[in-house]
Amino acid sequence: MDPLEAFALLKHKLAEFLAGDSEWLIHRGDCHDVLAELPNGVIPLTVSSPPYFIGKSYDRSKKLADFQREHQLLAPQLSRITRDGGSLCWQVGNHVEENAVTPLDFAAHEIFSKEPDLTLRNRIIWHFGHGVHATRRFSGRHEAVLWYSKGDDYLFNLDPVRVPQKYPGKRHYKGPKQGQYSGHPAGKNPSDVWEIPNVNANHVEKTAHPCQFPVALAERLILALSEPGDIIFDPFTGSASTGIAALRTGRRFLGAEVCESYCTIADARYADYRTKALKVRPLDKEIWAPSATDAVARKPAHFL
Ligand SMILES: C[S@@+](CC[C@H](N)C(=O)[O-])C[C@H]1O[C@@H](n2cnc3c(N)ncnc32)[C@H](O)[C@@H]1O
Repeated sequence: MDPLEAFALLKHKLAEFLAGDSEWLIHRGDCHDVLAELPNGVIPLTVSSPPYFIGKSYDRSKKLADFQREHQLLAPQLSRITRDGGSLCWQVGNHVEENAVTPLDFAAHEIFSKEPDLTLRNRIIWHFGHGVHATRRFSGRHEAVLWYSKGDDYLFNLDPVRVPQKYPGKRHYKGPKQGQYSGHPAGKNPSDVWEIPNVNANHVEKTAHPCQFPVALAERLILALSEPGDIIFDPFTGSASTGIAALRTGRRFLGAEVCESYCTIADARYADYRTKALKVRPLDKEIWAPSATDAVARKPAHFL
């Protein structure tokens, strides 16, 4: 298709989606084209994880400078399309070049923090229990989510994301409320450290995409930072984990994905979601720990 024709078609599709009520649209192509065509202030919430430029099949290079260049283009556009009071959540890990580690949230924040309308509200640590065993440094078991809001009058709904109190029977021990229960009956704030299993080979959500994040990670952000019916945007859709989280919470999804085979995975997950065949690990599912008698918990003779 002629590029001008393709842009006109994209513009038309986006306008139709924004004005209508359909729940799912993924642009099969470059997110920069979507960003260029979206009007100002139409996106209540973006939840995304960009390429880390570390040599994955979809990374254009292994250079931190390319990550930075990409973010210099993305930041003003992401800020422009975010609605006043809306949010941007950016999930990143580390960049490693010649065994030197750069936390990509540092690199991204250096650029996002130059946007006058964006304010960092949390740097959330996503902790998980499994991954590569490093030999020349401590094994990495966390990544980060930077949450920015646009403006000071921003949406933050704590109630849908409260977690059970650790000590529900705790009482005020002094002051005017002495003796009364001190915790909120609906649960406590989940804090800025979230333990959610990553999507490894055994995870129920695993697809052929090499770098999925869990649906639960996006789900907590969506529940706290948007309202039912809102459009949730993921410019780097991948297998559409954000999209699935958006639908599960009664929101609509707009995405972009440049790689056709990942678009096919996203389509299949959407179809499975619609027929209730899609498996998702719920946010509140307990993290499995072996009992002392399980074979994996027993020390082999040569460990003793
Ligand atoms: C870290 S992955 C996102 C994974 C996703 N969060 C999930 O759970 O499946 C980044 C994705 O961005 C896609 N991508 C890279 N550059 C892109 C671009 N310019 N426009 C749209 N998608 C792009 C890659 O193909 C890859 O699937």
